[in-house]
Amino acid sequence: MAMAPPQSHANDEEEMMLAAVRELVAEKVAPRAAAIDESGEFPTDIKDLFAQNDLLGIPIPEEYGGLGGTFVTYVKVVEEIAKACASSSLIVAVQELGMLPILIGGNEEIKKRFLPRIASGELIAAYALTEASSGSDALGSMRTRAERRGENYVLNGQKIWITNGSVADVVCVFAVTDPAAGSRGVSAFVVEKGTPGFIVGTKEKKMGIRGSPTVELVFDDCEIPAANRIGEEGEGFKIAMKVLDKSRPGIAAQALGIASGALDYAVNYAKERVAFGKPIGQHQGIGFMLADMKTEVEAARLLLYEAARKCDEGAPDVTLWAALAKLKCGDVAMSVTTDAVQVLGGFGYSTDYPVERMMRDAKITQIYEGTQQIQRLVIARNLVGKGKPS
Ligand code: CAA
Repeated sequence: MAMAPPQSHANDEEEMMLAAVRELVAEKVAPRAAAIDESGEFPTDIKDLFAQNDLLGIPIPEEYGGLGGTFVTYVKVVEEIAKACASSSLIVAVQELGMLPILIGGNEEIKKRFLPRIASGELIAAYALTEASSGSDALGSMRTRAERRGENYVLNGQKIWITNGSVADVVCVFAVTDPAAGSRGVSAFVVEKGTPGFIVGTKEKKMGIRGSPTVELVFDDCEIPAANRIGEEGEGFKIAMKVLDKSRPGIAAQALGIASGALDYAVNYAKERVAFGKPIGQHQGIGFMLADMKTEVEAARLLLYEAARKCDEGAPDVTLWAALAKLKCGDVAMSVTTDAVQVLGGFGYSTDYPVERMMRDAKITQIYEGTQQIQRLVIARNLVGKGKPS
């Protein structure tokens, strides 16, 4: 009989971590999920819990105070949390999104200044790319300006839809430094909370992920030191895109977690709820629905783990794989949660059961970090090229 290969050290560590996360989620996160959704308040207690358990700096290298974990481990952790609470999973995912510009584009000085405190959770990070007229067309329609003034830059403009923007201590902001230079005319900056001229604006009222504050950020003659620039002037747009290559798998993991949580709930319900003399899961109409849901969840999971593996490897086709994972997992989250509501029937539509929240939370995964249409555009360009505008 063939012997099973010995498990690698890395896999042992990952398994131990995931077991601890599952316990934490079951004991502390799942019981809070409905209340977080209902209150619409950022759950500071859950953020503190994640910080105490070293979940806010998983892929940050050890030399910068992080765990030095793999992206595979990171996405699995996000997935575990999202099975119970999508808002809470976003605390981990946006901490990663907010630190990635520094990790990917920053010099040693800026990395050492910010990353250890982000990894420990002392600082909450956010990422500010989107503007009122610049969502999908992130480059062409960017209006926020950063002008050099001696040893400083002065920022003017507005960003919208900034996840965790009102609770963030540091925000990585993308702004135009040279309007004539196209993709080489954007630069990236760290703006710290409390800087004069950095104003948190309106908070959005949202369908889902209600425990994650989404806000407008205003920069009104906001002066920051040139040392807060990430990378060289003009490198900002490429940094923003490289960040999305590594953060989209995090959103895909959130989507997969939501789908997986909804599937588990629907399966358990279908085993217990009796109609026409037997559990509804034994009726082909429901059993086949559950079979399709399971197939989609497992297919999405394989795609996601492969995308995360490519992030770890630094594979040249990571842009493609991040988009494939985000597209598939987002669509699976929406279809599986919708079907979970259907399996529960009237109870599924009630806020007494979690699946309607999961369905509302799923929708955003088809929209943020690039809509599903943008993912298709990225995939298509990877297949056939961009072509020249006619
Ligand atoms: N890595 C490195 N460089 C990249 C890149 C990548 N993945 N993608 C593009 N670039 C480079 C290109 O090579 C090009 O460089 P050159 O000018 O030197 O040739 C430059 O960037 C411009 O690229 P494009 O010509 O492809 O730019 P475009 O304007 O045609 O389209 C896009 C780019 C893919 C549509 C991009 O704008 C995009 O991804 N849009 C969606 C934005 C998005 O995802 N926003 C989400 C906000 S964050 C969020 O939602 C977070 C949250 O709340 C949790």
